[in-house]
Amino acid sequence: MAKLRQAIEQHNYRYYILDAPEITDAEFDELTRELRDLEAQYPDLVTPDSPTQRVGIAPAEAFVPVRHRRAMLSLDNVFSDEELQAWGARVERTLGGREVDFVCELKIDGAAVSLTYEDGRFVRGATRGDGEQGEDVTANLRTIKSIPLRLQVPRPPAPLEVRGEVHLSRAAFESINAEREAAHQPRFANPRNAAAGSLRQLDPRITASRPLDIFVYGLGAAALRLHRHDEALAWLRQAGFKINPETVVVHSLRDVAGRAAAWAARRHELPYEVDGVVVKVNDYGQQAELGTTSHAPRWAVAYKFPAEQATTVVRGIEVYVGRTGALTPVAALEPVRVSGVTVTSATLHNEDEVRRKDVRIGDTVVVQRAGEVIPEIVRPLVDRRTGAERQWTMPDRCPACGSTVVRPEGEVVARCVNASCPAQVLGRLIHFCSRGAMNIDRLGPKLLMQLLAQRLIAGPDDLYKLSKDPLAALERMGERSAQNVLNSIDGGRRTTLARLLYALGIRHVGGHIAELLAARFGSIEAIMAAPFGEVRDVEGVGPVIAESVHLFFQQPPNVRLVRNLLARGVRMAAPQMTTGVLAGRQVVITGTLEKFSRIQAEQLVRDHGGTVGGSVSKKTDLLVVGSDPGSKLERAEKLKVKTITEAEFVELLHAGGAQP
Ligand code: IVH
Repeated sequence: MAKLRQAIEQHNYRYYILDAPEITDAEFDELTRELRDLEAQYPDLVTPDSPTQRVGIAPAEAFVPVRHRRAMLSLDNVFSDEELQAWGARVERTLGGREVDFVCELKIDGAAVSLTYEDGRFVRGATRGDGEQGEDVTANLRTIKSIPLRLQVPRPPAPLEVRGEVHLSRAAFESINAEREAAHQPRFANPRNAAAGSLRQLDPRITASRPLDIFVYGLGAAALRLHRHDEALAWLRQAGFKINPETVVVHSLRDVAGRAAAWAARRHELPYEVDGVVVKVNDYGQQAELGTTSHAPRWAVAYKFPAEQATTVVRGIEVYVGRTGALTPVAALEPVRVSGVTVTSATLHNEDEVRRKDVRIGDTVVVQRAGEVIPEIVRPLVDRRTGAERQWTMPDRCPACGSTVVRPEGEVVARCVNASCPAQVLGRLIHFCSRGAMNIDRLGPKLLMQLLAQRLIAGPDDLYKLSKDPLAALERMGERSAQNVLNSIDGGRRTTLARLLYALGIRHVGGHIAELLAARFGSIEAIMAAPFGEVRDVEGVGPVIAESVHLFFQQPPNVRLVRNLLARGVRMAAPQMTTGVLAGRQVVITGTLEKFSRIQAEQLVRDHGGTVGGSVSKKTDLLVVGSDPGSKLERAEKLKVKTITEAEFVELLHAGGAQP
């Protein structure tokens, strides 16, 4: 077991830190499985630093305060070359004009943590807090694969506190936000908030589901004989920590300024967010001479990148109609560069937002890129008004089709009521073809617009009837491209239930909800036939989404759309089983099971050929009864539906041959 653990940690290290795996994912999984099997057989031999124990601990009630052995200081900021020079001059003066080397690091925009190791094992991790005292988030930090649970050094120092920045990549940040939107949770404003929020989850399983990473940038209390910061970083790298690869030693402040300018221009090329560079005097002796103030060292400074805002003029406010009919006001701006991109428009979200910010046509405004992606207007510069600015109001007719616009009482969104509004139709098609949906990458917005204009299609189902000749005859198409488009459409015919559900564009059904529905119902037919109550009872769904799903499948055009898609060859993976002990049987589960979560139990039913029902009806064949059963049990008794206990359920599945 020790050998397996060592091998797994070594492969983890190669994968997460060196980015150079030596074995395939499958081989890695096999090693982990072997270890898990052994640990299951010999539970007494499970150690807390085993790689299987990264998510081992039950949710906490609250975080316990931890006092840092050595304070976690913050950094003073400089914002220009002049301020940097002034800082450097003070350093040189204090050191009596001796030569100084600097380490130049990226300032990672995440959450600072302190990691404590005892006997080479990771025993405690804490947030920065007020610098003196933070919170114990050990269980959450253990889930981060780039934090070694065990150091790769023969004689680990005691004490050892390691400091670093936990962060999320931009891509991870985006995908977490997409999931939160689908689940009706507020978006995180930026990757830093998302990282800090993920560290402060009481349930480590939630933290584990977020791809957090760490860059280690220094030591706290540490019994190591080192003379320079770059030595410390080298030691940390050796010990198995992840050090930012852009770290360099430079010999003059001119070089520091040069690197800062270069990174300010290129920061968006990095997969994670940085908000400046940190400059540190390299020599520990010199650091000691410089000392610290009450809150920050004098031997280091953060050179912050210029604020990512700019001012420009609002040329007009246009209204875009989305696939759901939602009308979104968008400001058309005089082009301006913000964080390395030219911005020509900014969303104003909705009418109330325009009122709240009091943005008028002709205003000079401050714009910024929120979360570094979507440009937005921060505020108008009221002083610059000339009186020629015009207030904007939401039109009462849809700009795309002229239909009535409604804004229900209590809602912020105004909508076009015409489901066949061309803007909505186009929006639904774009969504249908998008990456998370049917993934038809050759069908971009421009081509879809052409297809609609030429009346070659009217909706998503028509895509599967397209033939080559009319397609090839389109402007700038030709035979070859037409064939590529057809292949791309054809490739999307094999999909999954979740993707199809998502592609349909049902209101409130994002990727995550689509997965939940697919897992629960198993087939599109089952979802279409499901009564409201059954959809509502799916864990994580709730009444608003259930109503939306239910209503969607009550509309004849939507039913026709699904039928046409199926008739034209759209197929979903994992078809219903026709064999298995539960083949053809509908099973309902009630109460809490001991061995499985609800989702696991439902999956087992489907794995054995059965379907899962949400409530007991005459169609139900079997009710599995856990502890604290609900009204389903009474109903089953009334309808004389067969009931079994959890143990009998397990036995039944065993009888079917497969291990649950
Ligand atoms: S050194 C005593 N290095 O910036 C030195 N900090 O504003 C303390 N940070 O709390 C910090 N990248 O969360 C250091 N390469 C880096 C950093 C870094 C990000 C954060 C850290 C700290 C804050 C100070």
